[in-house]
Amino acid sequence: MPRQKPVSPNNPCPFLRALVAQGLVPDDVVPIGELTDTILAVARTGEGEPTLPATAIRAVALAANGLGPLQLARSGLGGVHLNELRDGPLDKKGVGSGILDAVANVDAAQLDRLDQFASDHLNARGRKERGLDQAALDRMMDANVERAASPRLLDRQLMDGEWPILLQVMGKEGRAGRYLSVKEVRELFLNRRFPRRMVTALKAQRG
Ligand code: HEM
Repeated sequence: MPRQKPVSPNNPCPFLRALVAQGLVPDDVVPIGELTDTILAVARTGEGEPTLPATAIRAVALAANGLGPLQLARSGLGGVHLNELRDGPLDKKGVGSGILDAVANVDAAQLDRLDQFASDHLNARGRKERGLDQAALDRMMDANVERAASPRLLDRQLMDGEWPILLQVMGKEGRAGRYLSVKEVRELFLNRRFPRRMVTALKAQRG
C-alpha cells in the first residue's frame, strides 16, 4: 500500500484530509484553482460521474481562511492554507458530527453513531449494506444542531455543503436511490482513503 502523506491536525475536513493524505494536494498552501480542479476531478470518479458546482466550491475555498479583506486577498492571491482551517469562518466548533476532535483524531463513539441514522440498502448488485441516504443525513445533521450548546444558523447551512456533497461524490446508486456506504465513510474518516472504485477511476483519468 503506498505511504500516505501527513495531514495537519488543523485541517478538520475529512474530504480534504483524504486529498492531502493521497498526495493529490499539498498539506499547506494550495492555489484555489488547483484545489477546485482537484475536487472536481475526484468528484467525477464517483458513481454517475457527479459534477459539482465549481463556482460554489471556489467561493468556499476563498472564504475558508477568513472573511476579512486582507484574508480574502491572501487566499485569492496565494491560495488556501489547508493547515489553517481550524478557527476559520467555516469551523463549526463542535456543531458538526464530532467525528474528528479538535486535533483531528477520530472519536470512535461519534463514528459509530452514524449507524444510528443508517438503514439497510441494496447496492446495484443486490448486496445488502448499511447506508445513509439524504433523509438519514438530514436527521443526523438536525441531531447535530439539537445537541450543540450554541449553534449558529450558519452551522446548519454549512452542513448542507458537506454531507450532501459527500453523498453526491462518494454515494452509491442503490436499488432505492443514492446512499453513502457507512463502511466507506468510516474508511474516509479513519484511514483518509477514497473507495477503491474511485481510486481506479482517478488513475484512469490521469492516464
Ligand atoms: C473548498 C473546499 C472545502 C473546504 C475549504 C472545506 C472545509 C471544511 C471545514 C472547515 C470543515 C469543518 C467543519 C466543522 O467541523 O465545523 C469541513 C467538514 C466537512 N467537509 Fe469540507 N471543505 C471543502 C470541501 C469539501 C467537499 C468537496 C466535501 C465532500 C465531498 C466536504 C465534506 C465535508 C464533510 C462531510 C465534513 C464533516 C462535517 C461533520 O463532521 O459534521 N468538504 N470542511
